[in-house]
Amino acid sequence: MNRLELFPDSTHITDAGLTIAGCDLSSLAVEYGTPLYLYDRLTLDASVLRYWQALARYYPAESGLIYAGKAYLSLAMAQWTQQQGLWLDCTGQGEIAIAIAAGVRPEHLLAHGVNKSPQDLAAAFEHAGTIVVDNLTELERILSLSAGRNVPELWLRFQPGVTVDSHAAIQTGQVGSKFGMDRETILQAAHLCHQHALPLKGLHFHLGSQLRDPAPLGPAISRTLDLALEMGFKAGWTLSPGGGWGVVYHEDELHQPDVAEYIRSIAESVEQGCRQRGLALPCLRLEPGRSLVARAGVAVYRAGAVKRTPERTWVLLDGGLADNPRHALYGSRYSALVVDRPAQPNEEIVCLAGPYCESGDVLAMDLALPRVEPGDLIAIPVSGAYQLSMSSNYNGALRPAVLWLADGEARLIQRHETPAELLRRDQPLPAAAIWQKK
Ligand code: LLP
Repeated sequence: MNRLELFPDSTHITDAGLTIAGCDLSSLAVEYGTPLYLYDRLTLDASVLRYWQALARYYPAESGLIYAGKAYLSLAMAQWTQQQGLWLDCTGQGEIAIAIAAGVRPEHLLAHGVNKSPQDLAAAFEHAGTIVVDNLTELERILSLSAGRNVPELWLRFQPGVTVDSHAAIQTGQVGSKFGMDRETILQAAHLCHQHALPLKGLHFHLGSQLRDPAPLGPAISRTLDLALEMGFKAGWTLSPGGGWGVVYHEDELHQPDVAEYIRSIAESVEQGCRQRGLALPCLRLEPGRSLVARAGVAVYRAGAVKRTPERTWVLLDGGLADNPRHALYGSRYSALVVDRPAQPNEEIVCLAGPYCESGDVLAMDLALPRVEPGDLIAIPVSGAYQLSMSSNYNGALRPAVLWLADGEARLIQRHETPAELLRRDQPLPAAAIWQKK
């Protein structure tokens, strides 16, 4: 795979350098400043289409897609999900608030979370059509909120006890995980729902993230169907096998994990499993995040100092850990191109690091690049998922602006944070309280 293929579908190399959706990255960096995040509309739409086409081809019953907002959520992104006919998976009242501001209707809003606070549950009751119940304590809280109210549809989160091949921090379905309920607890929860006539409609599991092999989904689906049978689900029930399909981040990885292959594997397991058990085919609702948005996103940084030492060459950028903690958290490998000469042959091995006071503030170790000089712009592909949504104000970092690129036009969807905004929540202590002697 070559480096350019990691970039959004509408990326081109022109005399001026990299363009996306007909927009010149160097000019955008000057106009909006760096670090700068870009989303390519064409790539976003194409990613969703791949899912719809595979579902239509391989799954014979009703199906749907839920975008996992944790990958990246903003007003514009939430609006886009609705234009695409997606449901929106919101973790907690914060994401629910963004969804509401974007006009997401309750029937498209799904409330997730492993330890929903009373405020999260209140927001879910008011705005969500579906709540995924993680544990019995939560179910009891739902029960106490339900008197005389319209209760959202409930799905129970099953912990299928299947381990996947991805970083330990992003595995969620294995035995001992903090997520979901084991078989016995699910049966207890189902009993409670029946006893109190709560609208129990489905089962959910999520094995983990950045999966490249659909094989572990087979046993997880099989165990979930066993449960569905025990619970007596009839036509009209929903199965949500979560999300988690991976993407390629670096040209060294051989090929892009194939969404059609993933859906085919799930659809076959569900169909065969239901047939064997005499179960009605469920409505299949997948919950992808990363595979819908990661490749549509690009992060653009400006190089400041370049330190050529006997040990290594550090290219120090104006962003890093604060807008993208993924290398620090999971050792993720990224690639990059120099914006104004993306086709120039590589000349040296460099480390791309950020300006923050931490040695873990690195974006890419040992990456081959053309000779980089201070002032050069560096574009990092596959930056659309779990970067901005996990960004912080470490060292007083200001969160970057985000542009939506389509048809030769760049629209600002999130402006650059200002220093004044860092003080938004603060209240000074009165002088007397500071100088007061005990
Ligand atoms: N559904 C549930 C219940 C989830 O917990 C997640 C992700 C998804 C769906 C979407 O998974 P995806 O399709 O995006 O893999 N910060 C980590 C990833 C954490 C994923 C958390 N849950 C990273 O940067 O790799």
